[in-house]
Amino acid sequence: MSLAGEYSEWAATELDKVKNKIKWVAENNKNKIPYTTDEKGIYDNKADNNKEYRIDDGINWWTNGFWAGILWLLYNDTKESRYKEYAMIQEDLMRPAFDMFYGLHHDVGFMFVPSAVADYRLTGNNESRRIALHAANLLAGRFNAKGAYIRAWNDLEDADTRGWAIIDCMFNISLLFWASEETKDPRYRHIATAHADTVSKAFIRENGSVCHIVEFDPVTGTRLKSYAGQGFAHGSSWTRGQGWALYGFTSAYRHTKDDNYLQVAEKVADYCISRIGRDYIIPIDFDQPAECKLEDSCGACVIAGGLIDLADEVSDISKSKNYLKTAVGILKQIADNRADYTEKCEAIVQNCSAAFHAPKHHFTMVYADYYYIEALYKLAGSDFKIW
Ligand code: GLY
Repeated sequence: MSLAGEYSEWAATELDKVKNKIKWVAENNKNKIPYTTDEKGIYDNKADNNKEYRIDDGINWWTNGFWAGILWLLYNDTKESRYKEYAMIQEDLMRPAFDMFYGLHHDVGFMFVPSAVADYRLTGNNESRRIALHAANLLAGRFNAKGAYIRAWNDLEDADTRGWAIIDCMFNISLLFWASEETKDPRYRHIATAHADTVSKAFIRENGSVCHIVEFDPVTGTRLKSYAGQGFAHGSSWTRGQGWALYGFTSAYRHTKDDNYLQVAEKVADYCISRIGRDYIIPIDFDQPAECKLEDSCGACVIAGGLIDLADEVSDISKSKNYLKTAVGILKQIADNRADYTEKCEAIVQNCSAAFHAPKHHFTMVYADYYYIEALYKLAGSDFKIW
């Protein structure tokens, strides 16, 4: 049941500011794949062939689909053809990744759902369908049948990652749900649900918090241990990871109607709500020391987007209202204090952090803008579902 209408006017006002901003940001970045802005507020370009990148960076970078996603969200609303044209350029820029192959890992979902799948859904473009199915087959090929998990990353210099699965993949499996819905071949969906079932048993803690990385024995499939990953410490609660779980399980429920997924989403949501402060500022990790003021506006937007969808799925009205109220609290905090609608910076959402122990914090990330804009559209009443 949708109660979001109560907030739709507010969301529409914020979206007007977003649209005014993206109007000029899109012109500046139509031939680039942006990730973050520099000290002058200008986006970088992951498609810059003059730069040398690590194998999983550059054209293979996991966030490369989000700029296209923003353009498709704007196109769906405004029907301005330039947004469609610019979003399609993104698919062309990303195409060489398939030939490079070694740099692609489980994040083909993040890369090709908001770009190629969104394109196909909105325009029926057959070339996008081909790209998206190609990506879905690569993702399906990462499934470890013994452990019933999708392997996250390729080999790292310092770690054997054959047994690693990470919570972020709850978003990547949307690509598999889409592939089965599109082709009517259930293989992709079997893999998506097997992975989600494993995650629900191996990642979700008793209190509803979620591990970032879990390692399985790739030969026997046994769960071995978990890692802190991008969070503060082993056993802690990296907030963006909580968001990937809460939103990812909500989306898995929408695709399958399996009650277990809804229960997991609610459990993680209730945990998050119990840890969110009255100011609605989301730290990098719910368990970071109290004196540490590091925050992650990107995790904030992911959690908000998940809560809005979850509010639509639960039948208990008081729960639904509480999910929405928290989502709106988070989004208003971003809108009032972390959103830059000026011309000083090409990104909107400020104070994002990739990882607790990374050398740099509080910068912009294109996917924070994506999840912020997507959440505002959900509140404004759009029924265009990307995941
Ligand atoms: N998927 C990696 C991250 O959330 O930073």
